[in-house]
Amino acid sequence: MKNWKRFTAPALVAALLLVPAAVIQLHSQAGNEAPTGFSTPTLSDNPGSQSVSNGLPEPAGDTFANDQAVFEEAEGVDKGLGPIYNARSCADCHQNPVTGGGSQVSEFRVGHLDGNGNFVSPTLTINNGQSSIPNRSLANDRAVCPEAQERVPMSENIRTFRMSLSVLGDGFVEAIDDSTLQNIADQQPALSRGKIHGEVIQVPIGEAPGLTRIGRFGWKDQHGSLLSFSADAYLNEQGISSRLNPVDTTTVCKTNTDPEDHPDDLGMDDIDHFTTFIRGTMAPPVDATLLATRDAQAGQQIFAQVGCAVCHVASITTAPTGTVINGGTFTIPDALGGKVIHPYSDFLLHNIATGDGIVQNGPADTANKLRTTPLWGLRTRDRLMHDGLSGSREQAILRHKGEAAVTRQKYVTLTPQQQSQLLTFLNSL
Ligand code: HEC
Ligand code: HEC
Repeated sequence: MKNWKRFTAPALVAALLLVPAAVIQLHSQAGNEAPTGFSTPTLSDNPGSQSVSNGLPEPAGDTFANDQAVFEEAEGVDKGLGPIYNARSCADCHQNPVTGGGSQVSEFRVGHLDGNGNFVSPTLTINNGQSSIPNRSLANDRAVCPEAQERVPMSENIRTFRMSLSVLGDGFVEAIDDSTLQNIADQQPALSRGKIHGEVIQVPIGEAPGLTRIGRFGWKDQHGSLLSFSADAYLNEQGISSRLNPVDTTTVCKTNTDPEDHPDDLGMDDIDHFTTFIRGTMAPPVDATLLATRDAQAGQQIFAQVGCAVCHVASITTAPTGTVINGGTFTIPDALGGKVIHPYSDFLLHNIATGDGIVQNGPADTANKLRTTPLWGLRTRDRLMHDGLSGSREQAILRHKGEAAVTRQKYVTLTPQQQSQLLTFLNSL
C-alpha cells in the first residue's frame, strides 16, 4: 500500500494537472487567442533585450530586439532628420507604457474649405515666403533651422490636434481581411435601426503601386499597410525620406541626398525594421484582475446592451495563415493568422459629430468622420479622442453624438451605478 501511494500519488497529481492543461490547450487552439502583453519595455541599455514578440518570424540575421532598437533610435541631421519634423524617434511618440504604446504627444493638422465646402490641404510657406510646401495638412512643429520652420497662414481656419496612437498589436489589425471589415460595416445598419453605418475606404498601398486595400490605420483610416504607414511616418514625423516616400518635403536647409533611409548590412531599410517591430508586438493586454470583478463584468454587459459594441467591436478574427495581403507583398505568417483579437473597434469611419473637417486619403464625405478608436489599452491614456481634449472617459462618451446619439442617450439614462460599472469595465481595458 505504501508503495502504491508513493508511486501513484504523484501520478494522480500529474494526471489531475495534465487533464486541465490539455483542456486549456485545446480550448486556446479552438479560440486561437492572439498573445497579449506589454512586453516591449523601453531600456536605455540594450534596447529590446528583454522584449518578447508574438512569434513573428524575423528576416535572416535580424532579431526583434534589433527591430525595437531601430524603432527607438533618435536620428540626427546626419541621418536625414528634417528639415521639418516633429520628433527624433518613433518611440518619442509611441512609448507608453512600453515601446510601441501611445503617448501624450499631439500633432497639428490644418486646412480650409473651398467655395463648394470641400476640404483643401494647404500650401504652407516657409523661409519668409520664399519657399512653399504644397498639400500639407500636417504642420510640423520643429525644423532643423529657423528658415525651414512652418507657419500656418491665417487662411487655414481648420486647426485641430491629433493624439499619438498605440501601434501595439497592429500586426493583427493589418492581418484582418478586407472582407471582414466590409462585413462588419454591412451589419451595422441592422444592429442599430439604420443609425450606424461605418464607412470603409480604399487607400493606396505604397509598396504595391496602383493597388489599394481597406484603410484601418490612423485616425482617418488613411493607411492599410504598416510598411506604408511607417514610410509615411518616417518622412512626415522625422523628415527622413525612404524608398516608398523618396522625396523630402523641402530642400531648405537640406544636407542629405534622397532617399535618406538606406539598407543596412542585413539589406533592410529602417522602414523594414519599424514594420517588423510593429508586426511582432503582442496585442495590448486587459487588466485581468479588474476585468474579473463583478462591477467590470456587469459593465461589459452594459457596454454591449447600450450599443457601444456595434462600433467598438469586441472580437475580430484575422485572416488565415498564408493569406496574401498588401497587394501580394506580404503573406500572413502563423504568428498573425487566424487569431482572435479584442480591439474594441471596427476600424471604420463614423460621424459621431466630433469631426475635424480634414480629408486624408478618403472621399470628401470623410471630412467629419473618424475611425472608431480601439479601446484596447485604454487604461494607459487619459487625454481622449482624436484631439485629446476629453479629460475623462465620461466626457469622451458624452461627446458621442451623430451616429452614436442613440447609444449616448442610453448611457445617459443608465443608473449612476450602471454608469460606474461601465466605466470600471473601460478601466480594465
Ligand atoms: C511626433 C510624434 C510621432 C512620431 C515621431 C511618430 N508617430 Fe506614429 N503616430 C503619431 C500620431 C499623432 C499618429 C496618429 C496620426 C493620424 O492618424 O493622424 C500616429 C500613428 C501611427 C501609426 C498608426 C497606428 C494605428 O493603429 O492606427 C503607425 C503604424 C505609426 N504611427 C508608426 C510610426 C513609426 C514607424 C514612426 C517612426 C518612423 C512613427 N510612427 C513616429 C505620432 C508620431
Ligand atoms: C457610431 C459608432 C460608435 C459608438 C456607438 C460608440 N463609439 Fe466610442 N468612439 C467612436 C469614434 C468614431 C471615436 C473617436 C472619436 C474622436 O476621436 O473624435 C470613439 C471614441 C471613444 C472613446 C475615446 C477613446 C480614446 O482612446 O480616445 C471612448 C472612451 C469611447 N469611444 C467609448 C464609447 C462607449 C463607452 C460607447 C457606448 C456608450 C461608445 N464609445 C459608443 C465611435 C463609436
